Amino acid sequence: ERPEREGYQGEHCHEKKLRYVTTVADAPLTERENRRLSKDRTVLLFADNSQLIKAYAEEFKELGVKYHVFTTLKTRSKNTTIVNWESYEETEAALKAYEAEDPNIQGIVYLLGATIKKFDKKASPHAELTKYVMPLFIALRVFEKGLANRQDADTFFAVNTKIDGNFGYTTKDEFNPIVGALTGGTTCYRKDVYERTGAISKLMDFEPTATPDEMAQKTMDEVLHGDMRLMIGTRDNVRSTILSLPTRLDKSVKHFDLAGKTIIFTGSGRGIGAMLSQKIAAQYHSKIIVLDIIEIQEKTPLWASMNEAELAALKKQIWEDLKADPTKKATPVMLERAFGRVKDSITLYNNLQKLRNLGSEVEYYHCDVMNSSMMKEVCTKIKAKNGRVDGLIHFAGLERSKLIYDKDPAEYYRIFDVKATSFATFLANNIVRDDGFFAFASSIAGKYGNLGQSDYASANDYLAKSALSLSNQGYRAISIAMSAYKNVGMGVRAGVETFLRSNGVDFVDPEDGMQIFLDEIVYGRVPEIVLTGSLGRLDWDHQLKFEWDEIGAADNGSDDSANGGNTPAAPAAAPKAAAPAVDSAKATHFLGEVKSLQKGSEIHLEKEFNLNSDPYLADHAIEGTPYVPGVMGIETFMETATALTGEVPQGLKDVHFYLPIKLLRNRPQAVRVIGKASGNEASMEIESDFINSKGVKMGNTRRHFTAHTLGSFVSTWDSVKAEAMTGLNAPMSVSKEEIYKKYFHGPSFQVLAGIVRVDKHASLAVYHTTPRPQWNDGPRTLLANPMLIEAAFQCCGFQDMSIEHKMTLPDGIAEVAVLNKQVPPAQLYLYGVNRGNTADGKTLHDAYVFDAQGNVWVEIHGYQAIGQ
Ligand SMILES: NC(=O)c1ccc[n+]([C@@H]2O[C@H](COP(=O)([O-])OP(=O)(O)OC[C@H]3O[C@@H](n4cnc5c(N)ncnc54)[C@H](OP(=O)(O)O)[C@@H]3O)[C@@H](O)[C@H]2O)c1
Repeated sequence: ERPEREGYQGEHCHEKKLRYVTTVADAPLTERENRRLSKDRTVLLFADNSQLIKAYAEEFKELGVKYHVFTTLKTRSKNTTIVNWESYEETEAALKAYEAEDPNIQGIVYLLGATIKKFDKKASPHAELTKYVMPLFIALRVFEKGLANRQDADTFFAVNTKIDGNFGYTTKDEFNPIVGALTGGTTCYRKDVYERTGAISKLMDFEPTATPDEMAQKTMDEVLHGDMRLMIGTRDNVRSTILSLPTRLDKSVKHFDLAGKTIIFTGSGRGIGAMLSQKIAAQYHSKIIVLDIIEIQEKTPLWASMNEAELAALKKQIWEDLKADPTKKATPVMLERAFGRVKDSITLYNNLQKLRNLGSEVEYYHCDVMNSSMMKEVCTKIKAKNGRVDGLIHFAGLERSKLIYDKDPAEYYRIFDVKATSFATFLANNIVRDDGFFAFASSIAGKYGNLGQSDYASANDYLAKSALSLSNQGYRAISIAMSAYKNVGMGVRAGVETFLRSNGVDFVDPEDGMQIFLDEIVYGRVPEIVLTGSLGRLDWDHQLKFEWDEIGAADNGSDDSANGGNTPAAPAAAPKAAAPAVDSAKATHFLGEVKSLQKGSEIHLEKEFNLNSDPYLADHAIEGTPYVPGVMGIETFMETATALTGEVPQGLKDVHFYLPIKLLRNRPQAVRVIGKASGNEASMEIESDFINSKGVKMGNTRRHFTAHTLGSFVSTWDSVKAEAMTGLNAPMSVSKEEIYKKYFHGPSFQVLAGIVRVDKHASLAVYHTTPRPQWNDGPRTLLANPMLIEAAFQCCGFQDMSIEHKMTLPDGIAEVAVLNKQVPPAQLYLYGVNRGNTADGKTLHDAYVFDAQGNVWVEIHGYQAIGQ
């Protein structure tokens, strides 16, 4: 963890591995367990679908176990209790009555989540929580004793949902997010129940087309033979699960620019919400409408101007006033509460002032987001003044950790309502424009589960599922599942912090977290990210992956395209090269070893550069140390992009040569190449670690070269062609010998036959096949024609040497198009155009590699070279 300097504002946030995209991944069962069930103990079935009840009944009969059904369906079967899920109290009474008769149950199968209907803006999540989630919460509490008795049975509870067989990460349909209240809650019930009873649990999602028989069989098979993994997807008959994979945000295009936008922000009065609002004000000057439960009173501006002594006097006065009230007995608690309100309103007032000072227009409304009539009134006022707004950032939240056994149900509702029901109220009031956005502060508790946070997880995963469902309806919606933050907010409350730290959870710098949050709104496209450092022992099922390699070459990996989910991004469809392409299947020299490949999505390669397999390196050495030529980096990227997308890109753009790859003491150097496809583009980088002689990794991972594939390309050849082709056959003004007296390149890199002319505007040179080949055992099939690019670099470099009197090396390229990928003829021409210097003193060139007929082979725009 690197300590940041004072005043750090999250500038390095994207360099740290904090952003993970939620993804479906295969989870084949490698070993089958053999759990036991008892013939004498009951399994409870919670279901409202007669077909499902029938299928499970059959399954239980086959397994030879007793069962009892809780349902709202009228039936005459004797092992059934008719219940009313719509009343918490009635459900609890019915379960308690059953428990009094038959406490020694061995399992619970919970199917109420498998029949949830479509998304309905008018539905009340509060009421739906009672119906779909609370029966499980109640059952796990009521039947604690039975589940804890594991003498003759491996006790369990199993939950079925029916979204898309992948927990909503695949479907493009809208669905009712209340299922998130069940999935999020279950991730925590699982832990609370396991801690107290040792019972195992399963959460399985099925496709809408799954048959009741299939659901019953698969569920019971998991219960009896599965591993300990909680979340199991079943889509297309593939056993899968949900992982979070590190994915860097592509910041090349703003998809939702916040400049000039009006945003409603809840929970921005303090903590991380306040921080995010300040970043928005400073970076985008958006209009921010603050909804806060804290009241700004008439006197707040006056209080905000007071110094410590004046505030102490004010507190004293409040105490006197309380004592003077004959209707109540004044207590110190009353004083603290009253003075707390004063301090809160000062904090909020100061925060709002800060936003204004940073350049935002601010509107404030006093609003308890749990109060639906207050919400309606405030939304009406906002609409009257501003029309519908451009976005909602929802940070209001409450958290009180308690195991389900100790939780007050009223608190469950409160914690759920402050996030989930309040959001549904915003939706019902239609406050956000149809082309607007929703951004939710949610929590890892809803993704990975945490002891004591079931209500909070229900609320958070409700929001996460809302983001998926809203995205499927065409909105821009993002849920950011955050881990604990350093020094601020609910993660550092006494007790919570100690618990998280003792479990090895890394606390995130809030400056990083809030900058990532903001960038996700502006640049992101997926409906959910996980924003976290290591989760330590909190991640029971190892769902948070740190390296792509860890998931192997699964088919359905993550992507960062518009809708996220598991469908690989469409292969980058760069325009095809003009000339017939070489056989790209043979262009594999620089791919090294493919460690993982998800076609159209992500590729990981490991390549070793050494003097045997790449002998030209000996001819590209500075002071005895071989350097991997930048052009071979370009070739590596072209081959990587081809393997990743299935298409040979036309070229590359935004190429950066950050750090040379050196073969110190002529020793081999291993690098990793990572390529990621997103939409029509692939982005790639070459990185390496420094391993000392003891085999220990030293320092941070080094990033050497990066590049993106080139999409459309507009040639500028016509504007220089006449000039470039003038005097092609003139005698050389600088001979090859003179050039390579100045340059360090050995025979296999001596691509220039001579310089025809050079002045401060341009240079014309002749390319010739090198006197020694790059490889001794025959040429490799290449896609970038790297030696032509090398010749262009050397041509421009020679101009730098002649005019600017400095030796320059490649630093970056805005665009390089390889217009002819065939093996070049022995002789070609190079024309370099000087375009001046960059602000930081690098020389800037365009360059063209062409033949005597005026056909361009390689065209380079914005080649930057840096002086040595
Ligand atoms: N901090 C973390 O480590 C962390 C981690 C993951 C997720 N999150 C999420 O991030 C959000 C902000 O967390 P935080 O740590 O900054 O917590 P916080 O300091 O407790 O802030 C929560 C905010 O919600 C507001 N709020 C609560 N009930 C409200 C109501 N009925 N109506 C209107 N506003 C209400 C609070 O107002 P008051 O000022 O009146 O309390 C406060 O501004 C929460 O949604 C939380 O779940 C935080």
